Amino acid sequence: MNNKIIVTGGAGFIGANFVLDWIDNCDATVINLDKLTYAGNLENLASLEGNPSHIFVHGDIGDRKLVQQLLVEHRPRAVVNFAAESHVDRSIHGPEDFIQTNVVGTFHLLEEVRAYWNGLDDQERSDFRFLHVSTDEVYGSLGKDDPAFKETNRYEPNSPYSASKAASDHLVRAYHHTYGLPVLTTNCSNNYGPYHFPEKLIPLVIHNALAGKPLPIYGDGQQIRDWLYVKDHCAAIRRVLEAGEVGETYNVGGWNEKPNIEVVQTLCDILDELSPRDDGKSYREQMIFVTDRPGHDRRYAIDATRLERELGWKPAETFETGIRKTVQWYLDHQDWVQHVTSGEYRSWVATNYAERTK
Ligand code: NAD
Ligand code: DAU
Repeated sequence: MNNKIIVTGGAGFIGANFVLDWIDNCDATVINLDKLTYAGNLENLASLEGNPSHIFVHGDIGDRKLVQQLLVEHRPRAVVNFAAESHVDRSIHGPEDFIQTNVVGTFHLLEEVRAYWNGLDDQERSDFRFLHVSTDEVYGSLGKDDPAFKETNRYEPNSPYSASKAASDHLVRAYHHTYGLPVLTTNCSNNYGPYHFPEKLIPLVIHNALAGKPLPIYGDGQQIRDWLYVKDHCAAIRRVLEAGEVGETYNVGGWNEKPNIEVVQTLCDILDELSPRDDGKSYREQMIFVTDRPGHDRRYAIDATRLERELGWKPAETFETGIRKTVQWYLDHQDWVQHVTSGEYRSWVATNYAERTK
């Protein structure tokens, strides 16, 4: 075993940020296994071209033979599992891919990792980690005055996406409890930042605003999410990998609860300042209310006390600093947005928003 790690889903939004962050901060090679679904984009990793610390492998976490081969060849000291179908609206329209990758794929990955881990010597077995990246959505929806989610909250997933993530979390837990596999799980709130695919609220609003399109707000826009700058999430995962207690879960959040409507208004205000409309009006004029998401969770909030107290992690960005950086990043990377929005994404937008504005 050596210092290499295998990252799955490392061409997606958080995975790519993590790979870049890892190579910046750690002197260790990353093997990046990604299926390159509509959400995977090698352009996110363009800055690593020719860098021997990054080995990209095009493949599926459910391909047992390939996973086995990678484990045997590279003998990693850790596997970090980001690979997933991640978009709630897509899970409502078509849950099957979510079950296939998030549940069945994670199961196959766990089986191969277990076999690899069983073949290590005692020292290597105790050093190895399988870190599973999960979400706050597994805990369900909070009322206005409920305390934020703690690691001890009951799982109550409400969408096919969150149910599939909950199922994978349970499998990961069971592989520790039953087989002793040294696992760690992180449950994080909504991320935002560079390379965020413009099907999700923040990049969609920035993209639509600049394109002169409507800014769709589901329902009454009073749903609350906790927002975390993606690089803070990456730092949290690094810290949990380094010092997390085996078998434990850690909630990761930014202490930034915001109603959706406020997020959209903030984006409009920053864009008004950094890239004003030609007609001098505010981007807020483009806001429209559309049909709500079925089963839309009302509020998520993360209590990240455990990660802060036990492992000394703290987010570096406030929402105000992180969101400004994010808008500036999109303004500076319009070519990236253009490349991304020219694919399958376009037909998805047509289906989703045609239904909502009927
Ligand atoms: P994303 O959709 O941007 O990226 C997912 C990546 O996984 C893509 O590169 C895709 O090609 C790859 N992938 C999908 N199926 C695969 C398979 N079968 N085998 C190999 N690769 C596959 O997702 P994201 O927003 O970066 O989220 C990454 C992880 O973090 C997910 O597990 C998600 O549940 C979790 N998470 C996301 C957020 C968030 O706000 N985005 C918050 C908390 C947790
Ligand atoms: O909480 C963590 C989760 O955050 C992750 O596990 C998911 O992978 C990630 O996609 C994200 O899920 P959300 O459903 O919260 O993110 P999304 O950006 O799709 O939506 C954020 C909120 O904005 C949600 O309440 C729905 C609303 N929304 C979304 C879109 C795309 C709108 O009002 N209009 C929109 O057009």
